[in-house]
Amino acid sequence: MGRKLIIAVGLAGVVGALGDSFITYSEYATQLYLDPHGVSCAKCHGLYGEGKVLERYAVLKKGKNGEVKVVWKEVKAPNIQYVPLSKLKKKLYNPGTYSYMPSYRILSDTEIYALYYYLNQIAPEKWKKLKARLFNPSQIGR
Ligand code: HEC
Repeated sequence: MGRKLIIAVGLAGVVGALGDSFITYSEYATQLYLDPHGVSCAKCHGLYGEGKVLERYAVLKKGKNGEVKVVWKEVKAPNIQYVPLSKLKKKLYNPGTYSYMPSYRILSDTEIYALYYYLNQIAPEKWKKLKARLFNPSQIGR
C-alpha cells in the first residue's frame, strides 16, 4: 500500500512539474550552461562561449640594455564554441592542476551532452546573429 502511494505521488509530481514548467531541450541546455550546479560557464567563457579575458597582469622584464620593461599578460578563457564532446568531458572532469577552471565532476553524461549541444548548436547561431546586428551599419537606426 505504502509503495503504491509513493508511486502515485511521484507520478503526480512528474506530471505536475511538466504541466507547470515545461521547458524545451534548448532552454534546458541554455540554463545548464548558465548555471551548471552553481558556477556559471558564462562568467568566464561569455554568454555564447565566445571567450573572454579574465585578468591582465604585469610582468617586469629586463631589456637588452638592462632597462626594465613592463609586459602585460592575459589570462583568457578561450572560445569554446564547437568543442568536441570528448574534449569537453575530459576538461570538465579534469581541468588540470594549474587551471583557473574549476572541475565539474558532479555533471552527468546527460548534462555534459546538454552543454555540448548548447556550445555546438545554440550558442554559435545566437552569437552569429548578435554579431551581425552589432557590426552591420545598415541595422543602425532600426
Ligand atoms: C573560473 C573561470 C572558468 C569557469 C567558471 C569555466 N571555465 Fe572553462 N576554462 C577557463 C580557462 C581559464 C580555460 C583555459 C585554460 C585551461 O585550459 O585550463 C578554460 C578552458 C576550457 C575548455 C578547453 C578549451 C580548449 O580549447 O582547450 C573547455 C572545453 C571549457 N573550459 C569548458 C567550460 C565549461 C563547459 C564550463 C562550465 C561548465 C567552464 N568551462 C567553466 C575558465 C573557466
